[in-house]
Amino acid sequence: MITTIIDIAYLIGAVLFVWGLRQMSSPDTARRGNSLAAIGMGVGILGALFDNRIDGGGNYAWIIGGMFAGAGIGWAAAKKIQMTAMPQLVSIFNGLGGLCAAILSIVELTTTDLDTGGKAISLFALLIGAVAFTGSILAYLKLDGKLKDSQVVWPKHNIINQILLVACLAMCVYLTISVQSIPLLIAFLVLTLFYGWSFVAPIGGADMPVVISLLNSFTGLSAAAAGLIYNNNLMLVGGILVGASGTILTVLMCQAMNRSLWNVVVGGFAGSGGGAQTDGDQVAKSTNAVDTSILLYYSQSVMFVPGYGLAVAQAQKALKELDDMLEANGVDVKYAIHPVAGRMPGHMNVLLAEADVPYPKLLDLDDANAALPSTDVVVIVGANDVVNPAAVDDPSSSIYGMPVLNVWNAKHVIVLKRSMSPGYAGIQNQLFFHEKTKMFFGDAKASIQDLVSEVKNL
Ligand code: TAP
Repeated sequence: MITTIIDIAYLIGAVLFVWGLRQMSSPDTARRGNSLAAIGMGVGILGALFDNRIDGGGNYAWIIGGMFAGAGIGWAAAKKIQMTAMPQLVSIFNGLGGLCAAILSIVELTTTDLDTGGKAISLFALLIGAVAFTGSILAYLKLDGKLKDSQVVWPKHNIINQILLVACLAMCVYLTISVQSIPLLIAFLVLTLFYGWSFVAPIGGADMPVVISLLNSFTGLSAAAAGLIYNNNLMLVGGILVGASGTILTVLMCQAMNRSLWNVVVGGFAGSGGGAQTDGDQVAKSTNAVDTSILLYYSQSVMFVPGYGLAVAQAQKALKELDDMLEANGVDVKYAIHPVAGRMPGHMNVLLAEADVPYPKLLDLDDANAALPSTDVVVIVGANDVVNPAAVDDPSSSIYGMPVLNVWNAKHVIVLKRSMSPGYAGIQNQLFFHEKTKMFFGDAKASIQDLVSEVKNL
């Protein structure tokens, strides 16, 4: 009887995961989706606590103590984290999920008498979990600026990585078919941890979000494998959902950057510097709040292009205020959202939703590019790589082929940023020297507030 109730609880948990994930696909319902998935996880944990098919050894004090400690740390970290540092938080959570799966596998491999299938699954979970753990920790250190690419990359790194991958797989197969050996298991663990670190080391620049998403799918796969080990359907479903959604996101991000996954993993993403206000004979033209406010106020259509700088400056509410004032004068205002603008998927959508920008005003890449030729003024708010024409016309550029917003097709382009510094990919942007472009230097929030004041005077 109790087993049936627990199985029903697992089923409810799985349905809540799927339903929650579904709700996360729209900004209006995303918060509810998150809560539903969290409730699903709570139901699953409760079920596992009372499930006598799982050997807890009566260690309830440890389990509950661990749960409260983990929940407390997770809650505090999520409360404290800045929006711009969200990818770092995701990396750490990812890494801990991988570590968890790796530890479960070690416990199973060293304390139970597994058949060949059980050993294969446990070793697979150990391999993927350990790679996700050290890979995510390095991703966190790089994203947070604590380690630079140059500090972790060795000569011929990609060849070393391929050798390490073959060694990991060979050891996995050997340990599956041979008799149990603790020293060999420890060697395998060290090798996989090392490979995770080494795998992420040569990947940098704008490719980091793709790797984080890939590691996320690894964590899901390792959790699914742990679900198989424990014969726990909820863990299996949860792991598959994380693995599948991480894989889909990885593929979508690769498509948004027009790069293959292989190219991301072994290709490198070298920047070419840049940052001067002149480039050869070209000089970037600058503008100010007075001229820009007049241009915007008397236009018929304006398109804002938000980027990472919008998040840094926290300028979304000021931008909405400017939008309202322009709309009140009959200007048609839209926002162009590039899929990898900012530092995480949906970053711009979340910021603009926070400022109550109506969702229908947000255009995706294709719709924005179609609307740009008939747009009077484009205002780029702290975006750089996602509006770089090198992606279209410079085959030697590392971002060549990545779909970008063709803002130069509009009649006027105003760029709000603090300096001529390059963006995340570290490459020069010829847009700043384009004949239609004027640079409005300064912090995006301060610049937009100046524009709001000037528009009020018109
Ligand atoms: P970026 O190319 O990174 O450019 C952001 C620009 O914002 C910088 O050039 C910076 O110039 C400016 N900025 C920073 N703080 C500012 C402030 N307070 N006020 C005004 N401007 C400010 O941003 P993007 O165009 O959004 O492109 C995103 C990049 O990040 C892509 O390369 C993408 O691949 C990568 N990436 C994306 C994600 C996802 S999934 N969205 C995750 C990680 C990385 P100044 O310093 O001169 O002000």
